[in-house]
Amino acid sequence: MNPSQKEGRYQRIYEQLKQLLSKPGNALSRQATVVAVLHHKMEYFFWTGFYLLDQEELIVGPYQGPAACQLLEKNKGVCWAGINQGQAVIVADVHQFPGHIACDSRSQSEIVLPLRNKAGDIIGVLDVDSKELNSFDEADRVGLQRILDLLTEFN
Ligand code: SME
Repeated sequence: MNPSQKEGRYQRIYEQLKQLLSKPGNALSRQATVVAVLHHKMEYFFWTGFYLLDQEELIVGPYQGPAACQLLEKNKGVCWAGINQGQAVIVADVHQFPGHIACDSRSQSEIVLPLRNKAGDIIGVLDVDSKELNSFDEADRVGLQRILDLLTEFN
């Protein structure tokens, strides 16, 4: 999918999620809704989910795709890089990322974005994996960030 096709797709998903997330629910149900919509509308998303900080550990939250690691070793891998850097991390080839944690050997590229609460604290990350190399770019970063901002707003 080229960047402008991605942009259109993210815009439509954003509009749909804005409606869905405004319905009664809680943080968990909203995260589950975001993951379900993204995973089923973006065909290159092989694994889509949240890892959430819990007493300084990063534990898997709502996700879709193959069964994943429940707990990520501290300060290792792409998700922890997203937490520690406080910004999105795009990895074109996971095999080139030192310390990458392979929950499924089919994953080839990955994007991670921090999830924040209203106070601006990082409470976890959104993590998306693809089976192709180099699947994620600036269009994904911008599109996914807008969706995470919706979650922050409703939290
Ligand atoms: N690859 C991630 C671990 C989570 S899985 O991709 C689902 C990492 O290196 O943090």
